[in-house]
Parts: sequence; C-alpha cells; structure tokens
Amino acid sequence: MTDIISVIAPINMAVIKYWGKRDEKLIIPLNDSVSGTLDPKVMCAKTSVCARSAFEEDELWLNGIKESITSERLQNCLKKIRELAIEQKSVDEEFLKFKVHICSENNFPTAAGLASSAAGYACLVTALATLYKVKTDISALARIGSGSACRSVYGGFVRWYAGSNPDGSDSIAKPVVDSSHWPDMRVLVLVIADTKKHTSSTKGMKTTVETSELMKHRIQVSVPSRIEKICEAIVKKDFPTFAELTMKDSNEFHAVCLSAFPPCIYLTNTSLKIIEMVHYYNNICGTIKVAYTFDAGPNACLYLLEEEVPKMLSVIKYFFPFSSEDFIKGLKAPPIKEFPIESHIYKSATEKDLINYIIYTKVGEGPIVLKDG
Ligand code: DP6
Repeated sequence: MTDIISVIAPINMAVIKYWGKRDEKLIIPLNDSVSGTLDPKVMCAKTSVCARSAFEEDELWLNGIKESITSERLQNCLKKIRELAIEQKSVDEEFLKFKVHICSENNFPTAAGLASSAAGYACLVTALATLYKVKTDISALARIGSGSACRSVYGGFVRWYAGSNPDGSDSIAKPVVDSSHWPDMRVLVLVIADTKKHTSSTKGMKTTVETSELMKHRIQVSVPSRIEKICEAIVKKDFPTFAELTMKDSNEFHAVCLSAFPPCIYLTNTSLKIIEMVHYYNNICGTIKVAYTFDAGPNACLYLLEEEVPKMLSVIKYFFPFSSEDFIKGLKAPPIKEFPIESHIYKSATEKDLINYIIYTKVGEGPIVLKDG
C-alpha cells in the first residue's frame, strides 16, 4: 500500500465577496462571504503528501518546481496539523518526527489569475489532515493558509462566517446547499488577455481597510443586507434574486477597491465590456438570466442556468468574436444558438478587447481524496 496521500480540490467563486480582515495574522475576515464551488473535475489543484524517515527536510514542489517551504502561511498550516496530531495522538510518535514532502500542481494556468491559492490550500490541508489522521474542522485549517480557501473545502454553495471570537475559532465555513441542490447551475469563466500585474488580494484588502471610506458602508450596511437574502435565494433556486445580489456585490466590491488610496484597479476595458454585455442580454430577456462577478482581477465569472448557455455563447461570440474549436475548455459545450443582437447599438470588440478562452464548468463537489494515491 502506498504511503502517499493525493487530493484534488476545487476553486470557488464568491458571489458575496470577502474583502478585508479584522485580524491579519489569524486571517479573520471583516464580513461573512458566500461562494459557489466549481467542479474540481474541470479545474482543480492536486496535492500529494508523504512523510518518511528517509526525508531530511520538509520540502515543497509547485507545478514541478522546488520552492521554498518557509512561507509563514504554509508553516502555520503544517504546525497546526502537527499540534493537532500530538493532541489527538492520531499517529505514533515516530511518525511525527518524519519530514513531509508536498507536491502540488494546478490543472489550469496559475497566471490566468484564477483563485489558485484557494484550491491549493484547501487541497494541502485536506491531504495533510488525512496523512496525520487528525479530526478537525478542515475549513478553519484552510483559512490559516488563505482566507477564501476555507470555502473550497465544501461543494455546492458555501458560507464563510466571519465569527466574533478573537482567536478566530468561530470563523469557519459551512455549506449552504450541496452540489446536487441546483443541478442546472452553470459557470462560464471568461479568461481575459491581461499582462498587467495586479495588486494581490492580501495587499489590496489591507489598503482598502486602511483608506477607503466606502468600505465602512460595505461592511456595516451592504453585506449584512445581502447575505441572508442570497442564501435564501440559493435555497429557493430563485435565479433573478441570486443574480442581482451577485452583480451588485461585485460592482460594489470593485467600487470600494477604486475608493482605496492608492486605488486598486482590477477591471480592464474588456471586463467593463462584459458587464455591459450581460446587462444588454438581461435587458433583452426582460428578466435576469445571467450574473457576472469579478474577483481581484479582470477575468469574468458568469453564473447562468444550463438552458441559457447556447444563447449566451452566441452573445459572447458577437461581442468577442472567436472561431477556434478549443476556445471553450472544460465541460462539453452545447451547440451555439443564434441570438439576435442589435448590431447598430453594440459593436463587436476591437482587437484590444480580448478574451483568451472560456472555461465552461458547473457548481460541483468539494475536495476528493484519491484512492490510488
Ligand atoms: C477577491 O483569500 O486570496 O477573491 O486571505 O489574504 O489569502 P487572503 O486573501 P484571498 O482573498 C480573496 C478575495 C476575493 C474575494 C473572495 O474570494 O471572497
């Protein structure tokens, strides 16, 4: 039997964003957040861990390259899991002395600016907790690595409770509904051509908390007014309400980022054009059929029901002409269904406004421990 534990874990896409910490060190957020977990069979991090007496040091490989293992966040995760293993006597003392080797890779380009740290840390802590046989709330462990990672430890739609305890012990994620609840929920990730290096989430949220006046309103008024409503909309499968709250929260999050000083600018012209495109489509439909949301980068994530996908792809194709067969990655895309566009109003994109490719995926399950290592 192999002594290697391998896990795959999903990324998640927030519909009510986490932005701002009340404790930087413990990674405790200022607000509750909600996200959809995206099918790990389409996009995932894969991590293998192994502890042996022959290993001289703890070591880390990321996407095939040996990296320093000294990052404070990674060390905190390792330390916490080893402490729990001692407390719970879950493995023998000899095993605890062994060094661990960690090997992690993403099946999507890290440079695409997708939430790779969320999948990475959810994967790492699930693998380590399995290796050390510890029983604990995995979301709290993942949070120590990267805040949003705590939502990637469950499938479906997930809520991360900010909590109020100073030590962060109640700052954990819980499922709102599992992945089978809204089976026709689909996601199109529009990966944008972008070479600009954006401010990291960690730094961006710190600047925002320190300098933005609008942030106070977001934390005290807007997010609390949305959070219960969106959970209820998810439970009831009320798409228009879910979508409206998602778009409003994304827009407010980026407005708040822009109100930081210096401002954090994540959206590009292409992102703005996508926003315009979605509102155009919803307007023609006479009701909200598609929602966009953007994290700390220009890539768009569109939530929509399966029946809308063929028409939406036609609209995207009009705005951002594409031809190549492999433009749409992930799940098998349905045939595009022509959707009439009032072309005198909306011009298709210029060469500068480009989408590199689309990832077609759905809301899916949480981390999976692979049996064959
Ligand atoms: C915009 O989880 O990457 O994606 O906790 O500092 O590691 P740290 O930040 P991170 O922030 C993610 C922010 C976001 C919104 C979200 O996922 O809720």
